[in-house]
Amino acid sequence: MPAVSIERAKAVLSEFVLVNQETSIDKLVLGKENYTKFVNEFWTAKQRQANSIHEISYRACYKPQLPRFFIDIFTEKGDTVYDPFAGRGTTLIEAALMGRNIVSNDVNPLSVILTKPRLNIPRIDEIEGRLDEIEFGQSEADIDLSMFFDKKTEYEIVSLKNRLLDSDVDNWIRMVSTNRLTGHSAGFFSGYTLPPNQAASQKSQKLINARLEIVPPYKNTKEIILKKSKSLLRNINSKLRRELKTINSTFSSLDSRKTSHIQNDSINLTVTSPPFLNIVKYAADNWLRCWFNDIDASEVESRISLCRTVETWSEIMGSVFDELYRITIPGGWVAFEVGEVNNGKIKLDEHVVPLGLESGFVCAGVMVNSQDFTKTSNIWGVNNMKIGTNTNRIVLFHKPK
Ligand SMILES: C[S@@+](CC[C@H](N)C(=O)[O-])C[C@H]1O[C@@H](n2cnc3c(N)ncnc32)[C@H](O)[C@@H]1O
Repeated sequence: MPAVSIERAKAVLSEFVLVNQETSIDKLVLGKENYTKFVNEFWTAKQRQANSIHEISYRACYKPQLPRFFIDIFTEKGDTVYDPFAGRGTTLIEAALMGRNIVSNDVNPLSVILTKPRLNIPRIDEIEGRLDEIEFGQSEADIDLSMFFDKKTEYEIVSLKNRLLDSDVDNWIRMVSTNRLTGHSAGFFSGYTLPPNQAASQKSQKLINARLEIVPPYKNTKEIILKKSKSLLRNINSKLRRELKTINSTFSSLDSRKTSHIQNDSINLTVTSPPFLNIVKYAADNWLRCWFNDIDASEVESRISLCRTVETWSEIMGSVFDELYRITIPGGWVAFEVGEVNNGKIKLDEHVVPLGLESGFVCAGVMVNSQDFTKTSNIWGVNNMKIGTNTNRIVLFHKPK
């Protein structure tokens, strides 16, 4: 564990003011206390390109540069990084690429399916060989998918769904197939539809087809899987593949308030982004991906924390913070990313600060990525959240030693 004191953290964050003239320091006043706000368009000019292995779409995901910033400052190789709301696993994959051990949790089991195969990466020739081996039958899906897929494509998808086993190469193919099910370009199994992270319902897809006067064309699923695999693996060499296999990883699909399998004082850093009130419908957006993976989307939906009011949201997040405090090592850190809701009328960071304090954390400050909406969409990967959040705010907490 690196000796990062709270003073050091504040100093590192303050360096932005020196190296980047545009960073401004603001104050967040809550009661009698002042907290420093660092406001800037962070991680742009000097931004290093993210590894291609991240390119799996997911609703409301952030870009890898965000967790990398905190992992770099607050951890060393061999430390453990956690994300209780892991989604597509951006924090964990970036942490693994940086040689950190990882603990991943998301109430939706889809998160494991999208993340784990990227730690046990097969070679392209293994993927190609396995695809050649899988024979396609003529079984139809158990639900009507004719509005999304041509009949022969549907047979191929059903064969993949039924015949993939639990091996590294099959788990990889399952992850890529899940990612390629539906989308709005030629590289997807479906005809034209919404972007891949927001599956249309069967009814709305029929309307899309009628409006555009289209019928889903045949798509060669094996070719699409291979092409996407090559693209995901373009920055992975055999050394990195070997290193990723050695990362200690733990995955769970629990409510992040109840993660008793994670030991006390065991996490060096958490970087996470919780569900923002009820803006994003994670289960509805993933229904087809869940079907492909035999996950009951409505059961998942019942466990996802959707809150209409800030009060209920705060109650849930308060319990999440209690759990984070328990598992964070003394001297460890939490970077909690939230957005602005209702066009900036609700600033969730101001609600998050007291929650962390109540659990025992010290607040080291708030980083605000201040941009206009279009820029934010590009830099932080929130283009899929048309309403709700257009500024990212990260509240940084420290567990005293
Ligand atoms: C904003 S997304 C996280 C995205 C992630 N940062 C990424 O880059 O992919 C929030 C996630 O929280 C999950 N979630 C919602 N309620 C949860 C709960 N009570 N416990 C654990 N996960 C939950 C959702 O399934 C969703 O994947």
